[in-house]
Amino acid sequence: MKQATEARTGEQLWTAVDRYITEMVVQPDAILDAALESCVTAGLPQISVSAGEGKLLYLLARIRRAKTILEIGTLAAYSTIWLARSLPRGGRLITLESDPSHAAVARANITRAGLDDVVDLRLGLAMDTLPVLASESHKFDLTFTGITSSVASGIPSGSGASANIGQTITLSGRISQRTPASCSA
Ligand SMILES: C[S@@+](CC[C@H](N)C(=O)[O-])C[C@H]1O[C@@H](n2cnc3c(N)ncnc32)[C@H](O)[C@@H]1O
Repeated sequence: MKQATEARTGEQLWTAVDRYITEMVVQPDAILDAALESCVTAGLPQISVSAGEGKLLYLLARIRRAKTILEIGTLAAYSTIWLARSLPRGGRLITLESDPSHAAVARANITRAGLDDVVDLRLGLAMDTLPVLASESHKFDLTFTGITSSVASGIPSGSGASANIGQTITLSGRISQRTPASCSA
């Protein structure tokens, strides 16, 4: 008789494992739940990181003791809120979003989360806004790239090591050829 796991597709197994991890390590959170719900209400794609992945991002940023974070690809700001909550007092997160309708939903979610003073959302294509950030002399301790095009090179890092995390594993389990997850430490 086949094992239950063998009968599942890779996607079903991924979803089951992710749900298990989420139940083990993530507490219910009205603000984060509202951010996910806003994707549905506003007709945005439901491609935010999972709750377990959000918690992982939060922990990685805490372990890195990041004070400055760059996120590329905001959507409704679900991952933004996870990452921004990891920051110490005075920390700053800049998030880049090209779609005005996504940015509008994200801004409402950032405000609801009480993170207006922490999060700076820049509207525009990353290839246009990244040079602006460089001209403003920003340095980042951690970057999280949530888009599939390869724009991560040339991102200014903070003093010492910088961690670069890519949202490259899709729900179907395929890994992008163009944006390999990387961590330089
Ligand atoms: C996978 S979603 C991000 C999900 C988000 N990180 C989360 O987990 O909650 C990718 C987002 O990046 C935006 N995007 C795609 N290409 C972009 C680009 N070149 N510059 C800026 N934003 C871009 C899309 O409009 C979309 O909102």
